[in-house]
Amino acid sequence: MIVVGVIIALLVLMMIVTGLHWASMPPSRVETVDVKTLHLKGEFVESNLGTTLAPDGKVVVRLIAQQYSFVPQCIVVPADMPVTFRGTATDAIHGFVVGTTNANTMLVPGFVATFTTTFKKTGEQLMPCHEYCGTGHEAMWGRVEVVPPQEFIAKARSGERLTCVPR
Ligand code: CUA
Repeated sequence: MIVVGVIIALLVLMMIVTGLHWASMPPSRVETVDVKTLHLKGEFVESNLGTTLAPDGKVVVRLIAQQYSFVPQCIVVPADMPVTFRGTATDAIHGFVVGTTNANTMLVPGFVATFTTTFKKTGEQLMPCHEYCGTGHEAMWGRVEVVPPQEFIAKARSGERLTCVPR
């Protein structure tokens, strides 16, 4: 009885401590976005999706996930440069992982997922959806083309949104 009592007391204590911790320190950088106007205005309109090179040298990839594809379907990024991904979903919870790299996140409707990573190797990587999002889940994937930094900078200079989707 004493042992069981101690275990229960420990579990209750854990709940109180984690509850207080989350209440006093909520997760930082929660960014929300309106799903209803996602395609119409703001950061995630179609013309703004893809990879950009900012004047200060920051590389940002913007993408959206929807049943059952990513936009853009093929993403160009430079090797050996920090790349920031900003993504969201339009309909259900999706996610993606880029090959065997540490680029991995969930995409939740209404929220902007963001992370920064550096790709070490050039070449093509597969980018499958890794959250079950419906009957087409296993057919949902994109591609990531990691190109040498010089090649990327030469391409990106025009200031447009880069993708490797065939036109
Ligand atoms: Cu999208 Cu699974």
